[in-house]
Amino acid sequence: MKRIFTICVAMSLILSTSSAKTLVVYYSYTGNCKSIVTELTNQISADVVEIEPAEKGLRYEANNYALGTQLLNTIKANPNDAASYPAIDPVSVSVADYSTVIIVTPLWWSQMAAIMQSYLFQVGAQLSGKQVGLIVSSASSGISGIVADCHRLVPDADYLPENLWINNSNRSNLSTLIANLVETCGLNQQANTSKQINVVIGSKTFTATLADSETGEAFAALLPLTITMNELNGNEKYHYLSSSLPTAAYQPGTIHAGDLMLYVNNCVVLFYETFNSSYSYTRIGSIDNPSGLAEALGSGDVSVRFENGQTTDLTPTLSRGEGLKILRNGQLYLKHNGAMYNVQGGKVNAE
Ligand SMILES: Cc1cc2nc3c(=O)[nH]c(=O)nc-3n(C[C@H](O)[C@H](O)[C@H](O)COP(=O)(O)O)c2cc1C
Repeated sequence: MKRIFTICVAMSLILSTSSAKTLVVYYSYTGNCKSIVTELTNQISADVVEIEPAEKGLRYEANNYALGTQLLNTIKANPNDAASYPAIDPVSVSVADYSTVIIVTPLWWSQMAAIMQSYLFQVGAQLSGKQVGLIVSSASSGISGIVADCHRLVPDADYLPENLWINNSNRSNLSTLIANLVETCGLNQQANTSKQINVVIGSKTFTATLADSETGEAFAALLPLTITMNELNGNEKYHYLSSSLPTAAYQPGTIHAGDLMLYVNNCVVLFYETFNSSYSYTRIGSIDNPSGLAEALGSGDVSVRFENGQTTDLTPTLSRGEGLKILRNGQLYLKHNGAMYNVQGGKVNAE
């Protein structure tokens, strides 16, 4: 399971998992890129995911960087073959949920570090049309090779107007350099348009966040929607819509409980178990907290109502340390101004 965290404060993660629009993806072997991400997320609101190699404890710099060189040469020899890329741990975050993705990567031999290349090889197609930014850390070498790697792996992104190159001679100015990038690229001015909906199953209401995509928007346009969802395989409920939705299919690899997916172009699938799958889906969204979902859905066919939910963004009104999500028996609680609130059916109620 990948670590996803927001560096500023825990509160940011709690709110941003359902509303943030920027994802920072990084790999860091010796810690420099990690420091960049810490500074970046002090300045912008973003979710963060770290890419990690599947094989632990490797020393890429040993024997005059022999292993690092070997990994890069394998990719270079056959860049279109998935087998050329070193294995990475599964990543539990879907880029479909974000409009902007910032890649923070080390430079290895004037190329993108092999581990980050593995991730971008997996998700490159899903980044089509999204805003993509690139921050590179090197000792001294220039970054044109990495920019080329990024464009090869993510050819159809809407790249930010500037990349940022951090090296040993400007690293002490990190904070200012990032502030300039944030300003130039307007990274702190992103509107929060992620849509929250309610998913009502019997007496239980779950909140879900729709993907920031044409598919998410098209699904939102169907609401309110009450459908009978059929049971399949002990892990999903599905329903064929009478019309099709826009698709951007990909192979998620791991399906997570709470994933709301589109199979082909008109089959809405709500997963209630986590498992590996080789099927392709288009992401519609996901249930924010799937705890209790399997029980609510039961073992047979079930009526599910999707309706418009809360769209208020509480982020600006909350202070550091607030907004803690405390789950008691599946109930979401919010702390603000010292008071506790429960969140029910998309509404915030005093305790
Ligand atoms: C395998 C490998 C190859 C590297 N090649 C170069 C290089 O060609 N030029 C350079 O300036 N730095 C090179 N570096 C240094 C890293 O780019 C630099 O230390 C970077 O800041 C590391 O980021 P990290 O601490 O997040 O891993 C290399 C590092 C490794 C491990």
